[in-house]
Amino acid sequence: PSLTMDARDGLLFEGVPLHVIAAAVGTPCWITGAETLRHRAKALRAAFEARNLPVNLHFAMKSQDHQATLTILRQCGYGVDIVSGGEMQRALHAGIQPSGIVFSGVGKSDAELRAAIEHDIAQVNVESVEELYRLDEIARACGRVARAALRVNPDVDADTHDKISTGRAGDKFGIEHRRAVALYGEAARLKNVRLVGLAVHLGSQMLTAGPFREGYMRLADMVREIRAAGHTVEAVDCGGGLGIRYRDEIAPSPDMLAGVIAETLGDLDVRLSIEPGRWLSAPTGLLLTRVIETKAGNPDFVVLDAAMNDLARPSLYESWHGIMPVAPNGLTSPTKLWDIVGPVCESSDIFARDRALPADTKRGDLIALLDTGAYGAVMSSTYNSRPFAAQVLIDNGKWDIIRQRQSVADLIAAETVPEWLTAARN
Ligand code: LLP
Repeated sequence: PSLTMDARDGLLFEGVPLHVIAAAVGTPCWITGAETLRHRAKALRAAFEARNLPVNLHFAMKSQDHQATLTILRQCGYGVDIVSGGEMQRALHAGIQPSGIVFSGVGKSDAELRAAIEHDIAQVNVESVEELYRLDEIARACGRVARAALRVNPDVDADTHDKISTGRAGDKFGIEHRRAVALYGEAARLKNVRLVGLAVHLGSQMLTAGPFREGYMRLADMVREIRAAGHTVEAVDCGGGLGIRYRDEIAPSPDMLAGVIAETLGDLDVRLSIEPGRWLSAPTGLLLTRVIETKAGNPDFVVLDAAMNDLARPSLYESWHGIMPVAPNGLTSPTKLWDIVGPVCESSDIFARDRALPADTKRGDLIALLDTGAYGAVMSSTYNSRPFAAQVLIDNGKWDIIRQRQSVADLIAAETVPEWLTAARN
């Protein structure tokens, strides 16, 4: 387990006392465990190997895009799923080969498509008819042939939070599955796009096999239909979505996913790939924060120095994150219920309501917000002029700062005041 409790040092992450990091780096501070990440990366791969099912692994780097994270995953043989030109630059900078990069996303600009073509990345997952023709045009202008897959919307309900559901009719993603077969035939005539197959992403934080099975069965039917019409389908990209346990969910195992993929797509003789984000990165991270103040009342509040600008998930999706005291007696002292909030001037800046923490929680105590490695730091903003928090990587007992805390001076330095505003009036 990544988290352990020590009688003298309190909460440890991958064996390093969190109070040591807080004292050296300050709070709030994001912490990533390299060994936890490697362990998960290997376990996911092993689930497919155990079934003799070759699969290309593309980490959905939107969930965590730090260079160190990408470097570790590259060393574990992972490519990436990107959704912007910025992510492509980051991936290339971390040494990920273009052949390991897949480009998803519902609105890719001309410049982003051009960059993808020029770098000759593995494949562009095209989200609409319009984008398919635009890709062809841009590839022609570059004198290249772009590899692409059609991202289909299978119209499956992923049975997850509304805001992270992506594969239902009416969601903005993908090409309607009924049109996709005909479009595949049309695309075969394009000179500068080579369609290699189909792609799908059903939703995020999916907890059961049902929606995966339904979506992939539909995909398999489409592959057969497209082949029956005389076209080649070489590749199927199964997307991400594998959920984790944040609270008391029964989390699916990689073996479940591998099993469903084997069962539905395993005998189609296609190159398979997946794009997991959360499953790999969420449990590798925590947000370390300090209590600014406790406020007695009804309810009693714990005000942390981390806020919704750091970790947006609870305020955006009402998501649940484990909240643990770092002090040695944190797990044994009598508790009471608190509302855990941040200092941002919005009622939605709440991490949790009615959460049990030590009754004597006080100013200066350290608190860890758990499973924040996915969609944590990457979704931060500087709202309320709160600079981006520092990041730390722990690796086999060593630790280091991997992103300096941003300063307010950095924020101001990026702004300019037009001269005419100050020239006359001061
Ligand atoms: N592939 C595509 C095309 C995606 O859109 C996504 C996530 C993934 C893969 C990775 O999904 P995962 O394995 O992480 O579930 N900010 C939200 C999650 C948004 C997910 C968007 N798409 C959250 O904090 O829960």
